[in-house]
Amino acid sequence: MYNDNPTLNINKEIDESKQGQAFFKEGIKGDKKFYIESYGCQMNFSDSEIVASILADIGYQPTRNIEETNLIFINTCSIREKAEDNVRKRLRIFDKMKRKRPDLLVGVLGCMAERLKEKFLEEEKLVDMVVGPDAYRDIPKLVANAFDGEKGVNVFLSREETYADISPLRLDGNGISAFISIMRGCDNMCSFCVVPYTRGRERSRNCFTVIAEARDLFERGYKEVTLLGQNVDSYKWENPETKKVVSFAELLVMVANVSPELRVRFSTSHPKDITEEVMYAIRDHENICNYIHLPVQSGNSRILKLMNRTYDREWYMKKVDDIRRIIPDCAISSDIITGFCTETEEEHQDSLSIIKYANYSLSYMFFYSERPGTLAQRKYEDDIPLAVKKRRLAEVIEVQRAVSIAENEKDIGKVFKVLIEGNSKRSDDFYKGRNSQNKMTIFQKKGDFKPGDYVQVKITESTMATLKGEIVL
Ligand code: SAH
Ligand code: SF4
Ligand code: F3S
Repeated sequence: MYNDNPTLNINKEIDESKQGQAFFKEGIKGDKKFYIESYGCQMNFSDSEIVASILADIGYQPTRNIEETNLIFINTCSIREKAEDNVRKRLRIFDKMKRKRPDLLVGVLGCMAERLKEKFLEEEKLVDMVVGPDAYRDIPKLVANAFDGEKGVNVFLSREETYADISPLRLDGNGISAFISIMRGCDNMCSFCVVPYTRGRERSRNCFTVIAEARDLFERGYKEVTLLGQNVDSYKWENPETKKVVSFAELLVMVANVSPELRVRFSTSHPKDITEEVMYAIRDHENICNYIHLPVQSGNSRILKLMNRTYDREWYMKKVDDIRRIIPDCAISSDIITGFCTETEEEHQDSLSIIKYANYSLSYMFFYSERPGTLAQRKYEDDIPLAVKKRRLAEVIEVQRAVSIAENEKDIGKVFKVLIEGNSKRSDDFYKGRNSQNKMTIFQKKGDFKPGDYVQVKITESTMATLKGEIVL
């Protein structure tokens, strides 16, 4: 889910066969093109689709071929040092291209743009535009100025901007599954985290525009939407006319009611805010998937306090118990950080044991990377040696690996409803798709089933990351 590696949402993930359907916005005139690369979380990928839509409105088509455009955007992530290093590496490559092609413009978008602001233009002299996550509406002006030789920066953070009225231009293009941003920013001050500084204050999007976007996607053949926010459980939108406040659980149900054929997922849930209403909504609606990403970060209460997560180990375990009680077949996944400031070996053991307690289907695991300006950077010493952080990370990964294997083995013999996403990577004779629990499932083709169809798959084999099975009728 979090991507420190250079995944190009145009370059790699576009399915050629779907280009005509998912890639080109109707009515775009002219042959101007832009190229965009995205790093970081799903919110960034979703934002790139908003940027693509804004550019399409001024006549630019997205291209996957960097050679055929003179407008490059890189949507960046600041979450860990490595994420920023990867972006810098890419910028150096763009620099070289610019030296050969002086008409090439490079724009930096996203969290790194917000964090470094004008400094970008000083550090990376060849960058032409620096645009923060709330300033994308300004891109047409910044592009026009840049073509006139004037560099531009807009990193204004807004308290209102949700891009609610912009219909994203879908770039990842499997034509089946899409992201919908339901809120922006974050008001939690987890001490390790840079997001509140790069994304600004939390604000929720008008629920009617969310539902309209889901309906539009469904009408265009999409079968799955993932509602996105840094902390979806604190979604709260007040209808200005009726003054009624819509909660996340209510929004989930409204989106689920678009069609029983439309699967609904969401990410990310914060353990302090997830409510039983959300759990009941999942239980009572077959198309709200039985999968909750519930990052724990650490299994130790003292470390959680230093992290300012506002829950402790026991609170978290109780949330897991609630989920297991209300939705017995729900998969839970997590994010875990190793080697946070002052973490002892015993405290690290608590992270290992909570993985086993929660039986996560998977976890995204990281060693702590100090971020400038965060509470932790200002208040605590980053005192765990890198080698120790990495060794603890390896231990966390190993425990999670064993838990994932055991969890997936339990699925052998079960039958799941799977949404076909396309051919499996290894063979065109097989399809891939995910079950409600978000587990990737591979199975041999049979009958007339095609991507976008639901099939019943009986699981016959499993590995750490995938289930294998066969279509049963
Ligand atoms: N809003 C989400 C997380 C967004 S950031 C939530 O609250 O769960 C994604 C993940 O990156 C975090 O869950 C955390 O595990 C990791 N992360 C954030 N800051 C980090 C840092 N400074 N070092 C290492 N990992 C970090
Ligand atoms: Fe960062 Fe915490 Fe907000 Fe998640 S909830 S984005 S970890 S501050
Ligand atoms: Fe990275 Fe920004 Fe997302 S820092 S994880 S791209 S919110």
